[in-house]
Amino acid sequence: MIHRPRRLRTSPAMRELVADVTLSPSNLMLPLFVREGIESPREIDGMPGVLQHTEKSFLSVLDEAIEAGIASVMFFAVPEVRDELGSHACTPDGILARVIRLAREHVGDKLVLVADLCLDEFTDHGHCGVLDLRGQVDNDATLIHYVSMACALAEAGADLLGTSGMMDGQVGAIRSGLDSQGYVNTGILAYAAKYASNFYGPFRNAVESQLSGDRKTYQQDFRRTKEGAEEILLDLEEGADMVMVKPALAYMDVLTQAAQLSSKPVAAYVVSGEYSMVEAASAQGVIQREATVFELLFALKRAGANIICTYWALEFALKLKEQS
Ligand code: PBG
Repeated sequence: MIHRPRRLRTSPAMRELVADVTLSPSNLMLPLFVREGIESPREIDGMPGVLQHTEKSFLSVLDEAIEAGIASVMFFAVPEVRDELGSHACTPDGILARVIRLAREHVGDKLVLVADLCLDEFTDHGHCGVLDLRGQVDNDATLIHYVSMACALAEAGADLLGTSGMMDGQVGAIRSGLDSQGYVNTGILAYAAKYASNFYGPFRNAVESQLSGDRKTYQQDFRRTKEGAEEILLDLEEGADMVMVKPALAYMDVLTQAAQLSSKPVAAYVVSGEYSMVEAASAQGVIQREATVFELLFALKRAGANIICTYWALEFALKLKEQS
């Protein structure tokens, strides 16, 4: 026998020596939910350990994130009032803009602040865009709203805008809208390949989504093989500063394609249902929670993610810090 691969697995030190992939707290992006008009944080159905924060309570989480070595936080806001056009997404004093402003005042430049840029939390029909007369999501009309939302969030102090709505041309429209208003340094984290997934269920509780039906006319069909690459290339051409693949665990093939295609950083979003699935299996004692989460996070790095957006970010950043 010439080759004995087991030689490189003989001891912990040997395995450490030959490990190709590393994981550090700064690779982890923490998603946070802030709910307008609540007095104390609320638990979210289906997402154990994840909270809807008040406009005050999220600030201490930012301190903890900095302490744990996390470099970025992604904000979702849940408004009290919704309407057909999602108007509160675009006003300078809307809940998401307020949260970004408060976060900026609190952390200075110690964290990269990412604001979700989408109308779905703000519309009374729950779609990611505005509707035409037939009730279909109107791509080009939606872009106008995205541009004004982008400017409101840039003005509030966001570093990156997470374009999650899956409208065609959104990155290009937002980039030129931002530039024309002088926000040349506000970046775009493009949810480039985003699939119409069954794994978003718990998130819709988290943001109290009003959606009935589905998003299959704008989010991708998971049966297609090459479309992920096309979406990634389009967003890069339109000026994306980073590209994201979402969901993550069921889409590692797409993630690897993205890593090969993109000269810009690639992010993967472990979505709510993927999180909940692991938590539920752990709670039942069928898998070992901590070891399993680490395995998944390393797998995402191996598949090509530079950044992993995950509800485990804070807890596992702390564990990584303790280990180092
Ligand atoms: C939509 C958006 C969704 C998520 C992030 N942004 C839901 C959707 O597309 O229906 C899901 C995230 C998760 O499930 O954790 N703006």
